[in-house]
Amino acid sequence: MASSRHFLHKPRLLHIFLILTILTPYAISCYTSIFGFGDSLIDTGNIVYVSRGKVPDCVIPPYGETYFHNSTGRCCDGRLIIDFIAQNLGLPFVPPYFGVRNSSGAVNLEKGVNFAVIGASTLDDSFFEERGIPNDFKHVSLRCQLNWFKDLLRSLCSTPSSCKKLLQSSLLMMDFGGNDYIRTLTAGRSVEEARSYVPLVVNTMASAINELIELEVGTIMVQATLPLGCLSYFLTYFRSTDKEEYDSCGCLSWLNKLVEYHNELLQIKLKHIRELHPHATIIYGDLYNAALPFFLSPRKFGFTKGALIACCGTGGPPYNINTSVDCGYPPTFAFDHPFLYVNWDGYHLTEAAYRLITKGLLEGRYTIPPINTSCVSTVMSAEHSNFDYVR
Ligand SMILES: *[C@@H]1O[C@H](CO)[C@@H](O)[C@H](O)[C@H]1NC(C)=O
Ligand SMILES: *[C@@H]1O[C@H](CO)[C@@H](O)[C@H](O)[C@H]1NC(C)=O
Ligand SMILES: *[C@@H]1O[C@H](CO)[C@@H](O)[C@H](O)[C@H]1NC(C)=O
Ligand SMILES: *[C@@H]1O[C@H](CO)[C@@H](O)[C@H](O)[C@H]1NC(C)=O
Repeated sequence: MASSRHFLHKPRLLHIFLILTILTPYAISCYTSIFGFGDSLIDTGNIVYVSRGKVPDCVIPPYGETYFHNSTGRCCDGRLIIDFIAQNLGLPFVPPYFGVRNSSGAVNLEKGVNFAVIGASTLDDSFFEERGIPNDFKHVSLRCQLNWFKDLLRSLCSTPSSCKKLLQSSLLMMDFGGNDYIRTLTAGRSVEEARSYVPLVVNTMASAINELIELEVGTIMVQATLPLGCLSYFLTYFRSTDKEEYDSCGCLSWLNKLVEYHNELLQIKLKHIRELHPHATIIYGDLYNAALPFFLSPRKFGFTKGALIACCGTGGPPYNINTSVDCGYPPTFAFDHPFLYVNWDGYHLTEAAYRLITKGLLEGRYTIPPINTSCVSTVMSAEHSNFDYVR
């Protein structure tokens, strides 16, 4: 199976290599497309189309100010991890599915599509409904995104073999988990309750991954959940006078422990899937450990404003967050030089932080197994720190 795949793809890869060397001298590509599934860590603009009846999140300034100079719906001042990976693989930014679907002109989807939507949970809406947990982000869960993908495949490739060809050389990126727990905790439920959902969340992710493997997706990179206990919004929301709740970085240990439990179970599950499907490449993208050093020693990475204070907000010290006003709405504003911050809006990291995380992923330090480095250009390795933001 594996050897015939290599045999089939070699001439094609060589062909792509030659084209890309001419068009983009800095990049070669093994992957011919990227598909995104997940939440605000992956969404490149679906939220613009999937409105929630109020001004949607992340679609107003100052979102996008650093790179796109426009708010594209990305929950960041600039590029996300999926954007950096696309650039480093010599592929275009992954277009949001609903943007493509709503556009009148023909769009080439062969290089990938993004199904991720801000706020998406792993578990279905009915799960939260049954437990009386409020859910502002309906009809965008993992199951919905899988269904959109399957719908798209029906029109994208006319035969099973053309689908297979497309998917085998694609990289599928997936980020789920955080919203299931956040939704539960901000509804006032206990951390024990949130913890009891972890096996179900991980199993739901695993069954989606199995379905994707059945569709012959070649490589799936599943992202770990970030250390939520270090994010300014949660530090503010769950602020406590009990010093025991904090670790030496000033992060909420109980919240990070919940995330660690999720990440641990996820890794066990992925290992099991790899054993069952040795022909598929299942990568664990360890965002948790890639980001943790920022909180341990922010200055070492150029984050001179510290790691726990959000760049955008109006909350004042210590975290600059007022939990009743999100970034983008008056009177919030962003401080100058977002690259000096780890936290962007309290829930999400800055482009500078995502860039460093991506570097760690592509260099193989935080990917298990490592991403095939022969697929990666040298763009990232030239960017050793975020100091080149300073002009
Ligand atoms: C996009 O299309 C969906 C239905 O396909 C529609 O409900 C929505 O209003 C459209 N959004 C925009 C911004 O055009
Ligand atoms: C900014 O993005 C909005 C949609 O989010 C789009 O309508 C507008 O044309 C964009 N502006 C520029 C200058 O690209
Ligand atoms: C947070 O924002 C709300 C709404 O603007 C305001 O009423 C409240 O005073 C603010 N709280 C703090 C602590 O600044
Ligand atoms: C990495 O990708 C290159 C190019 O497709 C391939 O020749 C090589 O065998 C791959 N290495 C591994 C370890 O998969």
